[in-house]
Amino acid sequence: MKYFSLLPALILAARVIAFPSHASLAGLSEQELDEIIPTLEIREPAQPPGPPEDTSAKLVNDKDHPWKPLRPGDIRGPCPGLNTLASHGYLPRNGVATPAQIINAVQEGFNMDNSVALFATYEAHLMVGNLLTDLLSIGRKTPLTGPDLPPPANIGGLRDASMTRGDAFFGNNDEFNEELFQQFIDYSNRFGGGYYNLTVAAELRFKRIQDSIATNPEFNFVSPRFFAAYGESVAPNNFFVDGRKDDGHLDMDAARGFFQFGRMPDGFFRPNGTKGNAGLDDVVRAHPVQPGRNLGRVNSYTHDPTSADFTTPCLLYENFANKTVTALYPNPKGQLRRAIKANLHFLFLAINRTVGCAEVFPYGRD
Ligand code: HEM
Ligand SMILES: *[C@@H]1O[C@H](CO)[C@@H](O)[C@H](O)[C@H]1NC(C)=O
Ligand SMILES: *[C@@H]1O[C@H](CO)[C@@H](O)[C@H](O)[C@H]1NC(C)=O
Ligand SMILES: *[C@@H]1O[C@H](CO)[C@@H](O)[C@H](O)[C@H]1NC(C)=O
Ligand SMILES: *[C@@H]1O[C@H](CO)[C@@H](O)[C@H](O)[C@H]1NC(C)=O
Repeated sequence: MKYFSLLPALILAARVIAFPSHASLAGLSEQELDEIIPTLEIREPAQPPGPPEDTSAKLVNDKDHPWKPLRPGDIRGPCPGLNTLASHGYLPRNGVATPAQIINAVQEGFNMDNSVALFATYEAHLMVGNLLTDLLSIGRKTPLTGPDLPPPANIGGLRDASMTRGDAFFGNNDEFNEELFQQFIDYSNRFGGGYYNLTVAAELRFKRIQDSIATNPEFNFVSPRFFAAYGESVAPNNFFVDGRKDDGHLDMDAARGFFQFGRMPDGFFRPNGTKGNAGLDDVVRAHPVQPGRNLGRVNSYTHDPTSADFTTPCLLYENFANKTVTALYPNPKGQLRRAIKANLHFLFLAINRTVGCAEVFPYGRD
């Protein structure tokens, strides 16, 4: 019977040997960290890239960036923007990148505004990235052969009420969902004359929230997901429309290419000038919703007054730093602690530039 006591050690050893360099270290015990960290190639967090000089519309589906199908083991996830950049080689095609690579790619491929790019990227990196190797993945292995990200990736139901992905509660938040895309088309027909425009964005955003309230007992729609969901609703208008047209009306063939296949239309031009969250206010105003969650049963949506909303953008940052990150990393030590602090500071630089907030230091100032 003695050898049974070896089992935990063997399981731990297997997990250590197999630990992916892009997987998050959040939630690991000190013993696990002691085993894993020596196997990692540690890299100092790189400084965030600045904005590019040239923000003109230009051909981005070019001969240096052809779309290629996935190879076994390539990682794709719920973000059609990042999937597309990986499948065209603006990001490493395996779907694992540094924050700096992601920022450069969203700027080069889609003309995303520098502050928006920094905020989204460091937020994601702090939640699901490996802060010691400075790598994060844009999702999980496709097809899903097993979890590639540890559980913190979904902490707090961060990914609920997407337009084309199901809620994590239903088991698969990463992969394109044809039924949801049919609804996307239906709404584009009903409210946009066959195109996805801002009216469609507003109606579909509201519909997806109502559906989650009615079907997902664990529906969670507080900050930061609350903010991200609205930003994502206007991303197709801002980023997926050819820069020579730039009118915010997205046709369904192009939409399917981006959402399902991570593929730009032939001859695609990126937007003309930098884009951020234009149109977000219209989407919010059409159907105001307060941040909140279901209470373990459907149709129990309850406002959470401690969550940030659109009137309190600095609270978005403060809660993220004080609560979300400290829940993931309650007591980090040494180089991990320094890396968390560096990434939190990069996040602050982005929000400080757009809103102007006071920096918070949940891990101390020094
Ligand atoms: C800057 C770095 C970015 C990060 C870290 C990021 C991350 C994400 C994540 C985690 C989601 C999934 C949320 C969910 O489950 O619903 C998402 C969704 C989305 N992202 Fe990104 N994204 C980035 C940039 C972009 C860009 C450049 C575009 C457009 C070109 C884009 C377009 C979208 C859209 C449209 C969705 C919604 C998908 C849906 O609702 O079905 N994102 N993004
Ligand atoms: C979206 O398209 C519909 C149908 O053409 C139109 O009635 C609506 O005004 C458009 N919305 C916007 C914001 O342009
Ligand atoms: C981009 O916008 C500028 C200024 O409005 C305009 O002069 C230029 O022609 C536009 N570029 C394209 C490719 O449409
Ligand atoms: C934050 O923004 C304020 C106002 O623009 C500026 O004075 C301050 O230097 C910024 N802080 C950092 C750390 O960049
Ligand atoms: C975050 O923590 C700082 C102290 O580090 C505190 O001053 C601030 O009020 C906190 N903010 C929130 C929203 O908890």
